[in-house]
Amino acid sequence: MSVSFQKISADEAAECIKHQDTIACSSFTAAGCVKKVTESLAKKAEREHFSGKNFQVRVFSGASTTDHVDGALSRAKAISYRTPYQSNKDTRNAINQGEIAYADQHLSTYPQFINYGFLGDIDYAIVEVSDYTSDGQLTLTMSAGAVPTFCRHAKHIILEHNRFYSGKLQGLHDIYELANPPHRQAIPLLTPSDRIGTTTVNVDPKKIVGIVETCEEDHLADFKEISPIHERIGQHVAQFFLQELHSGRIPSSFLPIQSGVGNIANAVLKTMGMEKRIPAFSIYSEVAQDAVIDLMEAGRIKFASACALTFTDNHIKKIFDNLDYYRQRLIIRPEEITNHPEIIRRLGLLAMNAALEVDIFGNVNSTHVFGSSIMNGIGGSGDFARNGYISIFTLPSTAKEGAISSIVPFCSHIDHTEHDVQIIVTEQGVADLRGKDPAQRARCIIENCAHPDYKPLLWDYLNLTKNKHIGHQLSAAFKIYQAYLETGDMRNCKFNG
Ligand code: COA
Repeated sequence: MSVSFQKISADEAAECIKHQDTIACSSFTAAGCVKKVTESLAKKAEREHFSGKNFQVRVFSGASTTDHVDGALSRAKAISYRTPYQSNKDTRNAINQGEIAYADQHLSTYPQFINYGFLGDIDYAIVEVSDYTSDGQLTLTMSAGAVPTFCRHAKHIILEHNRFYSGKLQGLHDIYELANPPHRQAIPLLTPSDRIGTTTVNVDPKKIVGIVETCEEDHLADFKEISPIHERIGQHVAQFFLQELHSGRIPSSFLPIQSGVGNIANAVLKTMGMEKRIPAFSIYSEVAQDAVIDLMEAGRIKFASACALTFTDNHIKKIFDNLDYYRQRLIIRPEEITNHPEIIRRLGLLAMNAALEVDIFGNVNSTHVFGSSIMNGIGGSGDFARNGYISIFTLPSTAKEGAISSIVPFCSHIDHTEHDVQIIVTEQGVADLRGKDPAQRARCIIENCAHPDYKPLLWDYLNLTKNKHIGHQLSAAFKIYQAYLETGDMRNCKFNG
């Protein structure tokens, strides 16, 4: 069926959305984020609040968004509930002040939770497209996120047609949706470059309430300069992979890499990727950051499959200057497919994610500072950590100029348990935890990964408790955080005396 869509302004689109509606916005790690309708919605919320009325919406996205969604709506106090991931400072503050209910969820299960009806109805999907047809075939922009799921379930769809990308992105996406059990089939994806779906998201055109025109890049923030510490972490990761290659535990053709989000992940991938003794490899990840393009240019990455192309403006320009080359080497898939445990295990991914802190027994905290304040969210790290062929967590051994040890006796919050964590890498070295018992893991982590300033302290803690399976002493386990809160430096902690 073919429908002639109405062009509407962002304000008109925002007018459709009511207090307590659920909106689902395209965006994944800020790529492919909608840009206008949510800004107008934030202004509408401010007007409503000014006239004494309540106005808040529940906000779903693929993962993190740009300031156009989370920032604008948080500042307008227009979000009542947020899921599944965010990384915006205003949203983070509002969550940590108890103003926004935030459900931090694994990204592989989140689309199916929508499909199963666990997360309630979606009133409006607001989706950025580069192109569309009158029968409802949508070509997305720089991410796929959970857009197919949003469009399937939303009562209404508002499109933001971003002319900046028009005519450029056809053929880049591979959209594949899963049926719910008991009708689900095996996913026929056997290598990172396989195409198994359609290039467009196909929606019921009757649901489309209007098209809002935009013309704007994502304008993502630049990554931090690669620091010597991040470089050393990357070199340790490369060295570890070389050992695994030599021992035959990684095949000589190598295995696909998954690389996490943020500055550490980008720096580690870039440094590790430049190690020429590692064969050129493929990426099968949820996010492709700038390092992927740099390594493709250097002939080190052959192919990248991701849910989002989180590239800064100058890297997007490189793609658009050489579209035919990159079209052969990049695929954008929905997060349900990029993060699916079945595929992660089948492909044998080498999973590399960043952490805030790890404890001496191998548990990892990626999300909550001092156990209580959210940073971003678990994102896809749990999907990849549990199901990867080898699961690596990277982090500097200290934070805040040495006043915080990233290796602690007992993590203040745990996202990845000792059972999902195999390798920990800091700038100090590599702890290989595979097959080790808790006491062996603790010795290995303290010896190889802790900063020298903190090693004596951590040994003291470990020596407090003998003859238990896990050597914790609960009365002392969090003392190191207490020392920071009271004195501003964890080095002032004392376990003896
Ligand atoms: N305690 C307190 N703060 C800490 C800390 C600790 N143990 N470790 C790091 N920090 C702070 C840093 O000081 C920095 O603060 P600043 O912004 O004020 O400078 C902040 O945390 C971020 O650190 P940074 O070194 O810039 O790391 P990053 O950008 O690489 O992000 C994570 C690291 C862990 C926050 C990020 O990777 C993340 O959100 N991971 C979870 C989701 C995920 O892994 N998704 C990928 C799946 S594909």
